[in-house]
Formats: sequence, C-alpha cells, structure tokens
Amino acid sequence: MLDSSDQENLLEVNNIEVIYNHVILVLKGVSLSVPKGGITALLGGNGAGKTTTLKAISNLLASERGEVTKGNILYRGERVAESNPAALVKKGVIQVMEGRHCFEHLTVEENLLTGAYTRSDGNAAIKRDLEMVYDYFPRLRERRRSQAGYTSGGEQQMVAMGRALMSRPETILLDEPSMGLAPQLVEQIFEIVKAVNEGEGVTFLLAEQNTNVALRYAHYGYILENGRVVMDGPAASLRENPDVKEFYLGMSDEGRKSFRDVRSYRRRKRWLA
Ligand SMILES: Nc1ncnc2c1ncn2[C@@H]1O[C@H](COP(=O)(O)OP(=O)(O)OP(=O)(O)O)[C@@H](O)[C@H]1O
Ligand SMILES: [Mg+2]
Repeated sequence: MLDSSDQENLLEVNNIEVIYNHVILVLKGVSLSVPKGGITALLGGNGAGKTTTLKAISNLLASERGEVTKGNILYRGERVAESNPAALVKKGVIQVMEGRHCFEHLTVEENLLTGAYTRSDGNAAIKRDLEMVYDYFPRLRERRRSQAGYTSGGEQQMVAMGRALMSRPETILLDEPSMGLAPQLVEQIFEIVKAVNEGEGVTFLLAEQNTNVALRYAHYGYILENGRVVMDGPAASLRENPDVKEFYLGMSDEGRKSFRDVRSYRRRKRWLA
C-alpha cells in the first residue's frame, strides 16, 4: 500500500495531444500522474484513448503513425520522447500489450526468458527471477514446457505479465488485462497484480474497460472519454461516485451512457426549464 512518504510521481503526462496519420486527433489534452509504488487505473470504454495513452508513454506510437503533437511525458523527470522503447525498458518502464502477444511457437519458459533480454546481470539472477515469476504464477510453473500457442487466454496473459516482470521493471504499463477472460480468472490476474505491487514494489498503470474490478484493486483512477480525462480521484471515492456507479459500474438498466450524454441532458433540462 501507499503511505504518505511514498508519493513521489514516477510518471507525469502533461496535457498531451496525439494525432494519428497527421490528421486524426485522438487525445485532446490528457494529463495524469503515476505515483511510485501505486496502482493507477486508466478507465474508459472502447476507443476512449487508453491504449493510445499507454503507447504514447512507452514511445510505441511511431510504429502506428501516431505522434504526440502537444504536451510532454516525463519519467523520473526525463522526457520519454528522448528514449526508444528498448531504452525505456532499461530505465524500468515496460508495456504489456493488449491481446497478450506471446511467441506462440516458444514454450512458456522460453517466452519468459525473452523478457530478460535487456539485462546484463547474469544467468544466476535471471534464474532467480524466473523462480520469482513462477511463485507469483504457479500455473506457469506447471505449464513451463508447453508451447505458448496452446495455452489458454488466461495463461497467455500470465505469460505476458511474467515476461514483463523478467525485465525487473520499476513500472508496468498493463493494457486491458481482463480482455476476454472469465470473471474468476480476471480476479486471479488482478490478485497477482496486487501481489506483485506489494511484494516487489512494482508501480502499475493499467488500462481497463472493466471499471468494477479495476477500481477494487487500483489506488487511483482516471476516466477517459473521447480523448479527454472526464474525472479522476482515489479509487474508493470513484467507486462511490453516483455518475461512475451509473455509467461504469453497470448499475443502470440502459447500459453504459457517457458523461457527455449527462451533460447535454442537463443542458437540455436547463433549456426546457
Ligand atoms: N493506428 C491508428 N490509426 C488511426 N486511428 C487510431 C489508431 N489507433 C487507434 N486509433 C483511434 O484512436 C481512438 C482511441 O483508440 P484507443 O485504442 O487508444 O482506445 P482504447 O481506449 O484503448 O479502446 P479499447 O478499450 O477498445 O482498447 C479510437 O477512435 C481509434 O479508432
Ligand atoms: Mg485499448
């Protein structure tokens, strides 16, 4: 858990704008802070801009013809734009991509070992960390010799997270870990996030459509809509917020509406009054 002496922000995203293909404006001034040792959630529906924000941080936008055109992103006070993704991994920032992306023809263990490629601290340390990963993911120990392509979705998510841990990261950017997984497995994955956060002190920024589970495990949350942060706060207070309850925690019959709908509805009401 965070205590008050531990509030240093590792990552600062300052008012960034992201444009794809020179014309498509996707992020319209997003700001957020990620405190060291915390779990921060980036929430929002399809196309809100969560993945784009994570890719902007890990400097992966160029390969998508995307570009940060305004604002800046600082990791430990240094601009990430000046490091390529591999250099960022060395600085301690690693992204676990949406959709897991294992090397399907390699075994589970070989996949995990690919995560150690930026390290230079020798085989003994790498072996020790492999055991550390297996302690967090006992299922992967059982499956260590299986070809990753034949493992289940949940196991592949574990492989992707375990591989990230093998780089000995300070911060993991975790994109949509719940995607396509049964509720029980989602819970299991988040329990592991919590255990790694508490046990290894790894800082997490995780993108999730599953607001309910994310707000139970995160310390702080940002809600993105249409490329803007529409609300942020400590997870406990977001969970109690009536708008969040109605629009994101499935406590409304009409499915998910957006804050924009509420605002225009309120405007409409004023107009009628
Ligand atoms: N490479 C790209 N080129 C053009 N537009 C893109 C590209 N990638 C994403 N977009 C657009 O940017 C917007 C934000 O997408 P993004 O993937 O960041 O959303 P998201 O919040 O991660 O959504 P999801 O929950 O569905 O993963 C969407 O409108 C999407 O269509
Ligand atoms: Mg996404």
